Amino acid sequence: MTSKELRKNFLLFFKKKGHNIVPSSSLIPTDSSVLFTTAGMQQFKRYYLGEKSPYGKNVCSCQKCFRTSDIEEVGDKSHLTFLEMLGNFSFDGYFKEKAINLAFELLDSVFHIPSSKMIVTVFGGDTDVPRDEESVRIWEKLGFSEKKGNLRFAGKEDNFWGPTGLEGPCGPTTEIHIGELELWNLVFNEYYKDQNGKLTPLKQKGVDTGMGLERLAMVVQGKPSVFETDLFLPIIEELNSNLKSQISNLQFKTQNLKKSKRIIADHVKGAVFLISDGVFPSNVERGYVVRRVLRRAIRYGKILELPDKFLIPIAQKVIEIYKDIYPELKSKETDILTIIQNEEEKFNKTLKIGLKELKEQISKLKAQNIKSLSGKIVFNLYQSYGFPLELTKEIAKEEGFTIDEWGFKEEFKKHQEASRVGAERKFRRK
Ligand code: ALA
Repeated sequence: MTSKELRKNFLLFFKKKGHNIVPSSSLIPTDSSVLFTTAGMQQFKRYYLGEKSPYGKNVCSCQKCFRTSDIEEVGDKSHLTFLEMLGNFSFDGYFKEKAINLAFELLDSVFHIPSSKMIVTVFGGDTDVPRDEESVRIWEKLGFSEKKGNLRFAGKEDNFWGPTGLEGPCGPTTEIHIGELELWNLVFNEYYKDQNGKLTPLKQKGVDTGMGLERLAMVVQGKPSVFETDLFLPIIEELNSNLKSQISNLQFKTQNLKKSKRIIADHVKGAVFLISDGVFPSNVERGYVVRRVLRRAIRYGKILELPDKFLIPIAQKVIEIYKDIYPELKSKETDILTIIQNEEEKFNKTLKIGLKELKEQISKLKAQNIKSLSGKIVFNLYQSYGFPLELTKEIAKEEGFTIDEWGFKEEFKKHQEASRVGAERKFRRK
């Protein structure tokens, strides 16, 4: 099944089961306490709390999500910054029994994933929330049990989800894994967590599920990672076509080569989607995140000795893969590409000098047996060469160095203070 078919079949299955299909919301959420849309339930948050849903009690969606929480893991088999989350939701409609049975039926009879490959996890209970015996009984009827080894218990860390932002609905979860891969998370919203962390039972019960389309494609298409599925392969192939047969400065082994390509593919895709939703590169908040992923991609491009302007053909591939599902990518194509190109040109100019400067500092310090970069050095790279803190940290790590993050923040504050005083003076002079 192609990813287009997977998306469509997921939504159609739930439509047939009485759900209304709701379009994806923007990557910029309405909830101002979170930076990005990171889950399908975000646009429905208030319906778990009693507000009437204009879409009815049972809905499903394929939601664009962007998460920086897993950015360090990107490059492995399954972690991404941008992903599409398939989900079904119920606000005071059905609960555990129907949610689990629907999920199992879809994986088993539509996507033909053998149940022998599935392992489920259930919330094991702690001092505030009891063990989820109801889910255990439901799974047992479907052939899963602790005794057979295909049902396991876990604590809050793994089997409790939410809230997004500062407060909101949350609850125990049950997850479906395929081998080591977490495929589908079913959340049973039974509690409200307030800003002090206190849990209060909700008046109504809710279901919130999320399954990454990319991971589903990996399982159904039988691929070793999400990067071999049709959601990524054309991007990786485009990258391969630009690679020289010999990469001279690559002390890297094949594993790192693969990882670098995956990071570039993921980050450019993320940037394309963020820009299409109106997030433009800048030095603050959301804008900083787009800048960070683009600059990280550019740096990995340098490691792979890709030509100076390599981002555009990759961004074009991303648009080609997704344009039928997200037509805004096509209608905004010129803007998206211009913004990416500008950012690439800007960063290319300073990257070379900055890297040279950093390498010099590192060898000087090595000679003195020092293995840490001071806040001043890190801030100078940020200020003069546009190096995001995380980038310096990464390069430093590759050299066996740490960085003085606290020192960097102090320098940052000092600088902000100085520019504020400067701005006030200027204002007074007017
Ligand atoms: N909201 C849940 C998640 O993001 C389903 O995993």
